[in-house]
Amino acid sequence: MEPVKVGLLGLGTVGGGTVKVLARSGAEIARRAGRGIKIVQASARDLKKARNCDTGGIALTTDPFAVVNNPEIQIVAELIGGDGLARELVMQAISNGKHVVTANKALIAKYGNEIFAAAQKQGVMVAFEAAVAGGIPIIKAIREGLAGNQIQWLAGIINGTGNFILTEMRDKGRDFADVLKEAQALGYAEADPTFDVEGIDAAHKLTILASIAFGIPLQFSKVYTEGITRITREDVNYATELGYRIKHLGIARRTTQGIELRVHPTLIPHRRLIANVDGVMNAVLVKGDAVGPTLFYGAGAGAEPTASAVVADLVDVTRALTTDPENRVPHLAFQPDALTDAPILGMDEVETAYYLRMQAMDQPGVLADVTRVLADLQISIEAIIQKEPSDENGGKASIIMLTHRVRERAMKQAISRIQALDAITSDVVRIRLENLGNKN
Ligand code: HSE
Repeated sequence: MEPVKVGLLGLGTVGGGTVKVLARSGAEIARRAGRGIKIVQASARDLKKARNCDTGGIALTTDPFAVVNNPEIQIVAELIGGDGLARELVMQAISNGKHVVTANKALIAKYGNEIFAAAQKQGVMVAFEAAVAGGIPIIKAIREGLAGNQIQWLAGIINGTGNFILTEMRDKGRDFADVLKEAQALGYAEADPTFDVEGIDAAHKLTILASIAFGIPLQFSKVYTEGITRITREDVNYATELGYRIKHLGIARRTTQGIELRVHPTLIPHRRLIANVDGVMNAVLVKGDAVGPTLFYGAGAGAEPTASAVVADLVDVTRALTTDPENRVPHLAFQPDALTDAPILGMDEVETAYYLRMQAMDQPGVLADVTRVLADLQISIEAIIQKEPSDENGGKASIIMLTHRVRERAMKQAISRIQALDAITSDVVRIRLENLGNKN
């Protein structure tokens, strides 16, 4: 049988990796797909630029529309990123009746609902395994492997740059800004690194995971997003002392009131496997009602790990080319007319435990005042440590506490009452804490 013809949009890190993987393993991939997969055309902004792959045998162009409008091409792989030009190209490819494979998390998180509706109408597939957690086949795992489960919650380290920064701060005592510079030099960070450190990249990925886990439309604008820029070495060290690690997590949880969608730094017990996922690695913990907790780990970025997911999608699409569009795996795991409009909970309604740190005057009764505020709001304390005044702290004592689970609204009230106490001399640092155990 003739090989299936693919057009690539973008020959950067992921595009180059895809060319390389297909060249190296083409024969084996054809044995899996039932026919060869051949890249016939590729677009790149600068054709003179040095590449990480051999583009011999591929027609090159600077015009990406030449690829999406090429009648020979059956599958377009969009690997340029962003949600401007990429969106136009993907919509054009769909309207031309081409199948699409994309690694673009921002595009799917923000415009996936319209893209899938258009694809449905045209009877074409849009595959996006590479959009979340790079090489980890987490989309396939949730959408197909866990289809017998009601997913209760998932929590993921889904931004490698953020995880690298937190790991270096903990292991080497390095400062945030210094590690970020290194992550940029190593090529992990997004073009705009605020996407990594402010949690936007993780929120894109969480939007997609929550949608396929719970059967809800993609709702990026409703994700609560907090980055890691305010995490200090001091908090990293106190967390370690208390038996926790600080990780930047994306968390989606189904509750009786609605669905939690949140990205924020989180203390997790150091004994959890996911707490030990370090450096640029990603991991996603998924709790299903039948299977219990499952953990998926691997490289979340990089040329060949991401290409691994792109090529897997090319194989999937190739295998399904001749199938009836009505009987394919639905884009968002659930049939499009069976998505629910379960409400997304505002952060005030979310229940979680907390780590609190504050500075206080070294005088009698301060701790009693703080604990009284918490008791009045029915907030139970799990652990408390007080550090003696030091010169570093301007002669102030540090109080560090862990609380039991409480609604965020009550915690906000507690923090503003604590900050109003005369003896408290700093803002209260608060970091959410999740046990991620079998029960919660
Ligand atoms: N900037 C992303 C990360 C790349 O650091 O995880 C992969 O999406």
